Amino acid sequence: MANVAVIGSQWGDEGKGKIVDWLSSRADVVVRFQGGHNAGHTLVIDGVEYKLSLLPSGIVRGGKVSVIGNGVVVDPWALLKEIETVRAKGVDIGPHNLKLAENANLILPVHQKLDAALEAARGKVKIGTTGRGIGPAYEDKVSRRGVRVCDLRDEALLKEKIENQLIHHNALLKGLGAEEIDAGSVFKDLMAIKDEVLAYADVVWKTLDEAKTERKKILFEGAQGIMLDVDHGTYPFVTSSNTISGQASTGSGMGPKSVGYVLGITKAYTTRVGTGPFPTELFDDVGERLGARGHEFGVVTGRKRRCGWFDAVLVRQALTIGGVDGIALTKLDVLDGFEELKICVGYEIDGKTYDYYPSSQLDQEKATPVYETIPGWSESTFGARSWADLPAAAVKYVRRIEELIGVPVALLSTSPERDDTILVTDPFADK
Ligand code: GDP
Ligand code: IMO
Ligand code: MG
Repeated sequence: MANVAVIGSQWGDEGKGKIVDWLSSRADVVVRFQGGHNAGHTLVIDGVEYKLSLLPSGIVRGGKVSVIGNGVVVDPWALLKEIETVRAKGVDIGPHNLKLAENANLILPVHQKLDAALEAARGKVKIGTTGRGIGPAYEDKVSRRGVRVCDLRDEALLKEKIENQLIHHNALLKGLGAEEIDAGSVFKDLMAIKDEVLAYADVVWKTLDEAKTERKKILFEGAQGIMLDVDHGTYPFVTSSNTISGQASTGSGMGPKSVGYVLGITKAYTTRVGTGPFPTELFDDVGERLGARGHEFGVVTGRKRRCGWFDAVLVRQALTIGGVDGIALTKLDVLDGFEELKICVGYEIDGKTYDYYPSSQLDQEKATPVYETIPGWSESTFGARSWADLPAAAVKYVRRIEELIGVPVALLSTSPERDDTILVTDPFADK
């Protein structure tokens, strides 16, 4: 199977965008299959930075088809705005190379409003969402109240669906003390952009089936990370979609056997945005140093990311659940200059030792890490393009991580630049 699925193996922001862009030179089609514009994927090509939220990271390469699958929740205004922004950088985007699943659900203004109102109502224990309306839009999808891309084709149906959705939500907004939304103005605003959006609408499952028949190579681009998965993550401090490789199938309309090689993108340390448990989080100057060296600020919200040591227990669990074949280890260069490095190899919870992260919210909060300390290196790995350029201590760190997580390193990334990437195993060629 020649296809590859890229998924995040921690709490997001592992460097998926950079790796998808790098891998897309080997692919024909790049497919987003979950999440929405809560994602922020950064690509740096010859010093030019691209920040993508909804558009698949393959869009910047000419001659590739980018697909937004049915599993994605799409804010149509955000989509059009992103197309304009990326186009302004000289990228060719049109219906010939961007396909939007006609059965994808839309994020409408009410979802953002609810996201904000529900977060405010949560009081002290907020999830710390990106405020993009992701959770409420997925709720509407599952409760069969969603408005989908294909609904934009029929005025009467669209009107009815918006009204139906708002009867439900305006009651809730009223209860939460928030302003209600006027169905008429949402309908009018959607009518104003519908033709532009519908130009990209496509029967994506069919397009992908044709690509498969033509033996084209498909690259699935995950958003978020496995610890943010609605089932397997640190619930309730998660996003509202499944982020694991299985979702590449349901979120695109291709069978599970088409997913192929699963590549887990893994940062050489750990970060998290928003609230929720984080056993290896550092509150000292080491954490500050990781954040400063790694430029750990959110792409979407600009929030400072929480930083901590590499958690081998969490990553091993994530890779197992995600069925990961190999990892792309990113941001190794950020660890340059640390005298020693710590890796979490177990947890202690109420005096008991754990070799996995339990599901209970209370246990997750109580988990304290058991560390192994290994020597750091003083040399620079920034921009390294071969193993031979890496200091022995850095190689040892990578090998120890491989041992602890039980999955080999297929790619190693040493800077934000596209080509500062070391290839160990080509995921597209792996049998
Ligand atoms: P994504 O959401 O997984 O695509 O990751 P983000 O783009 O949100 O965050 C990753 C950040 O790290 C971006 O600013 C990337 O440009 C940057 N980055 C990716 N790989 C590397 C690397 O190997 N080294 C360094 N220093 N930065 C990297
Ligand atoms: P990429 O694709 C990091 C986090 C939010 C919050 C939680 C729920 O760039 O890795 P949501 O708005 O989805 O309801 O927020 O999930 N979150 C991310 N954290 N990277 C992301 O995406 C994220 N997308 C959502 O911070 O804690
Ligand atoms: Mg990101």
